[in-house]
Amino acid sequence: MCGIIGYVGSENAVPIIVEGLKKLEYRGYDSAGIAVYGQDGFDLVKQKGRLAALEERLKDRPLTGRLGIGHTRWATHGEPSDINSHPHVGSKGRIAVVHNGVIENYKEIKERLKRKGVSFASQTDSEVIAQLAEYYYDGDLLDAVIKAAGAMEGSYALGFMCLDEPGVLIAIKKDNPLIVGVSEHGRFIASDVPAVLKHTNAVYYLNDKEIAVLTENDARFYNLDREQIQKNIEIVTWSLDSAEKGGWPHFMLKEIMEQPKVLRDTIASAIGNGENKNIIGNLDIARFDKIVITACGSAYNAGVVAKYVFERLCRISVEVELASEFRYKDAIINEKTLVILISQSGETADTIAAMREAKQKGAVTLSIVNVVGSAIAKESDHCLFTLAGPEIAVATTKAFSAQLALLYLLAIRLAVVSGKLTQESERELRSAIAALPDKVTEILERVDFIQKFASNCVGYKSIFFIGRNIDYAIALEGSLKLKEISYIHSEAYAGGELKHGPISLIEENTLVVAISNCQRLYGKIMSNVEQVVSRGAKVLLLCACPNAEETDRLSTFLLPETHELFSPTLSVIVLQLFSYYVAANKGLDIDKPRNLAKSVTVE
Ligand code: G6P
Repeated sequence: MCGIIGYVGSENAVPIIVEGLKKLEYRGYDSAGIAVYGQDGFDLVKQKGRLAALEERLKDRPLTGRLGIGHTRWATHGEPSDINSHPHVGSKGRIAVVHNGVIENYKEIKERLKRKGVSFASQTDSEVIAQLAEYYYDGDLLDAVIKAAGAMEGSYALGFMCLDEPGVLIAIKKDNPLIVGVSEHGRFIASDVPAVLKHTNAVYYLNDKEIAVLTENDARFYNLDREQIQKNIEIVTWSLDSAEKGGWPHFMLKEIMEQPKVLRDTIASAIGNGENKNIIGNLDIARFDKIVITACGSAYNAGVVAKYVFERLCRISVEVELASEFRYKDAIINEKTLVILISQSGETADTIAAMREAKQKGAVTLSIVNVVGSAIAKESDHCLFTLAGPEIAVATTKAFSAQLALLYLLAIRLAVVSGKLTQESERELRSAIAALPDKVTEILERVDFIQKFASNCVGYKSIFFIGRNIDYAIALEGSLKLKEISYIHSEAYAGGELKHGPISLIEENTLVVAISNCQRLYGKIMSNVEQVVSRGAKVLLLCACPNAEETDRLSTFLLPETHELFSPTLSVIVLQLFSYYVAANKGLDIDKPRNLAKSVTVE
């Protein structure tokens, strides 16, 4: 978490950095800060709270400079406060730094430096980086950065400026993302591409322990032995529009509405002539006797959906594990295991660790990732890209849908290759998938119903989501989405489990969202609905059954028909819109829910 940005060039760095930070706020918003190399040395403004608070401060205290660094924080060490905000400057006032990550041995470093007379101002782990670099500085910032990197354990993406080296911006990364952008007027560093898209789409992706030394007209790269290394510049295909709100009240709504296109693009990349098709086509499924899917958050929920699809179509055993658990459980996997990693950002710390654990045990790793150049995309053996474009809202929507589409297509292909599915059935299933974008559009056109229903739900303290089989899998995502952005407590339960506990929580006017796309289980879920209604609950039923009844306690949203296995793609649209409108009616900051960050790069 945390977003960093830096600029050196011929223009004023301040608006460039502030605009860039707006695009990085999804990474944390406990505080924000900026430091520039001004006329008389470093000028620094940092402020607890959202970036908007920093912008207000900058009105009273305008800064200018052609070299600067900025930061938006998700607090790990030290409470959100002005003093704990970045940039941090060493006690000699000569080196300023912004940091994304965690310095695990910061206490030892701090003690060591204190013994040498260095005084500290903040409670953060990050301040030790500025102090260390100052301690090592002997007329050469690159040298000081290399020495500081040698002393630090943990994860970091860092941007440095030094009072004695005007016009030089230095960056280094380990286990956290960092890109270098190149434009006609200068050089940039940033945690993510959207922060620089307004100025350039030409970027270098830094690998771990690579250092960038940037000046207005030059970008040089070094390893920790100070040897210069060559890197290739890459052209990003994301458009600037895709990272802008474009008139929508929130990125989340914009991203929900983009889903038909995202699905079309992603499906085309896997069944047309896209790169994803080659990767799926070349996977040697015959060598695997087990699939393990591991991920965090919504990506994990996509994995739970996929378990039902793979097991039904491929008749292969699938385990789904939270990456934070997988990495510490000594998983039983080997070279006959396919480990699928799902991650929008490609940078989630637990998912990266799970990938490394899987590789170390000899498993084949296949990732499904949205961000090109991310750690998981680069390190996994195979990578399928979701073509969702930049996703800015903290709560994922379009990337989740794109993940599902790739997982369906992967499952179908593996089923055919392993002889579990005929080519004719493959054609049928693929055409069912190709029809999904239009069905999503159909749902989006009926947004009024969901908006109206949600407007009556703001007062609930708790909302339950139930489903069976694959409907249970998507109920998990509905529940997560709601709690993330509306702060209403919610739980998802397999319908059959209701009477093993949660039914005791059902009382007059509790809301239950029931999902029923599995025709063969329709009767079962409807009996769950009756059980909760008879205890006073109100129910929103999502189903494709045209005869579903409506009563004053039961409202039904009729979903377009599709194959049961692909129905999560349709149910989730309603669930996303429902969460969105509940949160919107509560007047909440939907794109940046409290305490959350989109890219969880710390454990
Ligand atoms: C955070 C986000 C979720 C996301 C999860 C995993 O919790 O808010 O939307 O599903 O991280 O992130 P990843 O980038 O690995 O998909």
